[in-house]
Amino acid sequence: MSLVGRSLIRVDDFSAAEIRHILAVAGDMQDHIGQRLDLCAGRILATAFFEPSTRTRLSFESAMQRLGGSVIGFQDARTSSAVKGETLADTARIIESYADVIVLRHPVEGSAKIAADYCRRPVINAGDGGHQHPTQTLTDLFTIQRERGGIDGLHIGLCGDLRFGRTVHSLLHALEHYDVRITCIAPDVLQLPERYRPARRQVSLCQRVEDVLGDLDVLYVTRIQRERFPDASEYEAVKGTYIIDAELLERSKPEMLVMHPLPRVDEIAYNVDLDRRAAYFGQAAYGVPVRMALLASLLGAVSSDGIEAPAPSTQRIVGEPRCPNPDCANRVEEYSLPQMVVLGDGRRRCDYCDLELAV
Ligand code: NCD
Repeated sequence: MSLVGRSLIRVDDFSAAEIRHILAVAGDMQDHIGQRLDLCAGRILATAFFEPSTRTRLSFESAMQRLGGSVIGFQDARTSSAVKGETLADTARIIESYADVIVLRHPVEGSAKIAADYCRRPVINAGDGGHQHPTQTLTDLFTIQRERGGIDGLHIGLCGDLRFGRTVHSLLHALEHYDVRITCIAPDVLQLPERYRPARRQVSLCQRVEDVLGDLDVLYVTRIQRERFPDASEYEAVKGTYIIDAELLERSKPEMLVMHPLPRVDEIAYNVDLDRRAAYFGQAAYGVPVRMALLASLLGAVSSDGIEAPAPSTQRIVGEPRCPNPDCANRVEEYSLPQMVVLGDGRRRCDYCDLELAV
């Protein structure tokens, strides 16, 4: 199987071998960054952004242009027909006839799956609510690999909003392919929800970064996702509870990486920027070669023939009951069919938002 024509909605859509392929191609792209390539000449990328973005949208646009292709799109839902009541499925079906590949960011969990279900072009999930953000994860893996020479054997601390931080949810899935230790560092109210706990690995949980900092090889920090809190007072209660500054960093290994998907609010002090452990601006820059590698692979501009694909998923059920998660696309886009994955022990998991349902 190859990556040509495939969508990337969740990290699990790609096998470990396919992820390694993207990272390897990204390395080649990085070595030629600045040279205009014509690998995707004549191809069009559509960016459909229903939520704010700086890095993800601009790095996708930069990537496509560096590959010789062109870009159309909108960056504000208010300028799309969604405000007239158009469904996401219809929007996706329309964009399909204008572009060869679609990058979608949307506030609803599972929205990228809806777009992919209704359109015949590859859809790339650029963040669907608090659910997943798989291309940020590819960028994160690439950063660790480039800056640390590899990923296996590292102790990775995920610190911050693990409840709503979609980059963390995707990263945790991808790290299942690597031999790493993971510590989730967050106050209780921001801790990792059950549905995002890795299936095949034990993760340690702790509340304070000080308790584990000295042992970490990577500290991955996220901002508190204020916009996703159902209740503003809950946000107020946790805001400012963790701040990484130069003084604190003195307790960490000199070669530790401080990563952040950005934007930061106050969780990393400016005095960290000059520390050699600060990897977050480089991480943002790596978004371009990684997205070049992804676009070129999905559009068949570089070969991915013969790479082992993910194992076929387990049994699926299409039909009632509808997902009970009010933030799930299956509820918000009412025409969408409920889709459940049957887990080994008979439980069901919503294929849009990953919520597990008691049977
Ligand atoms: C993240 C996102 O949008 O999920 N940003 C990004 O894409 N680099 C992180 C965030 O918004 O906090």
